[in-house]
Amino acid sequence: MANPTYTTHHGMKDILPGEVEAWQRLESLIREEAERYHFREIRTPVMEQTELIVRGVGQLTDIVSKEIFSFSRGDDNYVLRPECTAPVARAYTQHHMEQWGGTRKLFYIGPMFRAERPQKGRQRQFHQFGVEIMGSDDALADVEAISFMMRICHRIGITNTTLRINSIGDPDSRKAYTKALKEYFTPIKEKLSDLSRDRLEKNPLRILDSKEPEDHPLIEEAPRISDYLNQASADHFEAVKSYLDLQEISYEIDPLLVRGLDYYTRTAFELTSPDLGSQDALAGGGRYDLLVEEVGGPKTPAVGFAAGIERLLIACEELGIELAEPPRPDLYLVTLGERAKIWATEQLPKIREKGFSATMDYSGRSMKAQMKDANRELARFALIAGDNELDAGTFTLRDMTESSEESLTLEEIFNHIHPASTPGSN
Ligand code: HAM
Repeated sequence: MANPTYTTHHGMKDILPGEVEAWQRLESLIREEAERYHFREIRTPVMEQTELIVRGVGQLTDIVSKEIFSFSRGDDNYVLRPECTAPVARAYTQHHMEQWGGTRKLFYIGPMFRAERPQKGRQRQFHQFGVEIMGSDDALADVEAISFMMRICHRIGITNTTLRINSIGDPDSRKAYTKALKEYFTPIKEKLSDLSRDRLEKNPLRILDSKEPEDHPLIEEAPRISDYLNQASADHFEAVKSYLDLQEISYEIDPLLVRGLDYYTRTAFELTSPDLGSQDALAGGGRYDLLVEEVGGPKTPAVGFAAGIERLLIACEELGIELAEPPRPDLYLVTLGERAKIWATEQLPKIREKGFSATMDYSGRSMKAQMKDANRELARFALIAGDNELDAGTFTLRDMTESSEESLTLEEIFNHIHPASTPGSN
């Protein structure tokens, strides 16, 4: 086969029939659970103002400094959203959702864009689902977000996961901790990797995230955030832990978990899976009590998470979890000759009206070719119609699974078979 002239961009994928069914199943499962938790869906544009993402996610983060797709048109600067928390904070502010009363529990599903080096589980266009609980500073909101994340994995059957949690405190605690990290790392900075030395200047907290082996022994001995939390942050973290215990959600405390986005305050968490290889984070999130104000809104404590849909699907593949089967039409109308084609054209909408899924050949192929096609399309039954059948008013109904045939009138056929599924109801 000749190489195609046009292909998708590096790190961006088509989701084809055969693959898309698992996506649809996962999305409907997320919507079903969202309804149980009373999260309401929000859909924001895939493009935002560059300034929102820079301020929201943080100028010095990898995402903003290296990974955003941005362009300008006239006086406007556009960015393809790399994540959805800052856009949700923007929408919350723009639509004055604080005036809607109470806590807003929102969820989203959609594509995100980061110009990362593609590898397994890391794409440039990828998809997330996530929740944002806006307007509560209670630790129970943190646990609701975590609980939803765990529930989705549980429903899918991904249970071999590790939930790691940490508190990175509020700005006061973090200021004191950042100072302590600077004091600890500065005298030994020659031993740090280039990347960490750079971070020491810009954002010392992110050194804790380093993947460079030479940094690890130094990080091991570094001061711990738990010693710098102020009382309110420490109390909040204790409450999160006790609510997780109440809901029997197991976790590990990871004092080195800092996350790569600047908006976090207090709780940070990540869910990893050993089935994913090097990109092992299924989901991550945390509390961001200052973000809404940062983007011009009212004081709004909030917490949320996002999970990578591709990564959930990779985990399913590794675990042999089949989320969905390809769709099977109830009926494939096999027509012999022009008269039968006209008859079938008339029947198709009536058959579908009865709730059956049905298709037929459109290109006047031989009966053998049509039967082959019915098989390829996984039809449950083939209804064979030619001049003889139309004259007699009885048709051959072939059960494609059992390979058996019966001669029946249309009425008998529709008493005999039942729609396998109602489209849109799964
Ligand atoms: P994040 O940790 O950057 O957090 O992304 C969340 C999840 O998205 C990751 O755990 C991973 O599964 C998936 N993901 C991230 N980048 C890629 C990529 N290049 N390819 C494939 N999957 C990827 C956030 O985005 C925050 N907005 C989460 C949040 C919500 N925090 C509070 N609320």
